[in-house]
Amino acid sequence: MARARESDKPAVLVTGGAGYIGSHACKALAAAGHVPVTFDNITTGWRDAVKFGPLEEGDLLDRARLDEVFDRHRPVAVMHFAALSLVGEAVREPGRYWRTNLAGSLNLVEAAVSAGCMNFVFSSTCATYGDQDGVVLDESSPQLPMNAYGRSKRAIEEMLDDFRAAHGLNTVVFRYFNVAGADPDGEIGEFHRPETHLIPLMLDAIDGGRPALTIFGTDYPTPDGTCIRDYVHVSDLADAHVKGVSWLLDGRGGRVFNLGTGSGFSVREVVAASGVVTNRAVPVEYGGRRPGDAARLVSGSTRASAELGWKPGRSTLGRMISDAWRWHRNGRYEA
Ligand code: UFG
Repeated sequence: MARARESDKPAVLVTGGAGYIGSHACKALAAAGHVPVTFDNITTGWRDAVKFGPLEEGDLLDRARLDEVFDRHRPVAVMHFAALSLVGEAVREPGRYWRTNLAGSLNLVEAAVSAGCMNFVFSSTCATYGDQDGVVLDESSPQLPMNAYGRSKRAIEEMLDDFRAAHGLNTVVFRYFNVAGADPDGEIGEFHRPETHLIPLMLDAIDGGRPALTIFGTDYPTPDGTCIRDYVHVSDLADAHVKGVSWLLDGRGGRVFNLGTGSGFSVREVVAASGVVTNRAVPVEYGGRRPGDAARLVSGSTRASAELGWKPGRSTLGRMISDAWRWHRNGRYEA
């Protein structure tokens, strides 16, 4: 017989809870009265980031370990963040991406269904849309991913549809645009090794940690020639996930939501805003285009606000950069 849950509060299993977005989701879940149980193999995440609930170390490819964790905590829902997520790496090492992302997700979904945990929130990505020449991207836009990262995420979305049809798995799929910022209380933040993302690299350059930020490409078909992205504050994103769990626990499901603000900013605009927020010069140099980068990725959807009541209130460029700057200067984990 399954053991009694260790707390009266409902547990939510958070794969990748030691990572950037997963740790912010754990904080939001704890604030909403859940016990976030982190399942993470600590390859790209950090033990120091697991502050709001227990850590269960394990790998998604280890089905027996997953079964053990479902049995121990009996979660009411799963939030599935754990994945490899670097486009350049995916182009070079597709096998690793398909195995970790798709095979790992298959194990997790099967473990959830066999444990009777039928509420599933999945982290997908705007990378599943690919590069569509700047058209407005909403949830019904065609999915034309350009690499193994985007394709593995699209395949998992399709796999979830099959499990919904066959087993009644309730799913919410979030397609993220560019996640930025850090916990406003400074408890957790973005920390990747290696770092590849624009804002943390720029803050590091501003702070003297690297000689300069390289702007990848100034010849895109955009007003200032640099790529445009739709940036979302990580704590707003975390709030959307908690709303996603409530939506599922209310018996709804089978829905895809873009998580973006609908406003796009160019790399040059982000550079300028960072200079203003930090009141420092931003050392930049100019390089060629980075393979795989789309010119413009902006969400054209209001579905998440209309249906989930999501309000990305912290997602101004200034706020995201200032929260990331505070974290850069005072936070970070022991590497
Ligand atoms: N950029 C630079 N210099 C850098 C780093 C980034 O100019 O040193 C530019 C990129 O070319 C891009 C923009 O800044 O135009 C944002 O780049 P990020 O690496 O911060 O973010 P991406 O848009 O590449 O990546 C995000 C997610 C990925 C996801 C991808 C989908 O982080 O997980 O969107 O397109 F796959």
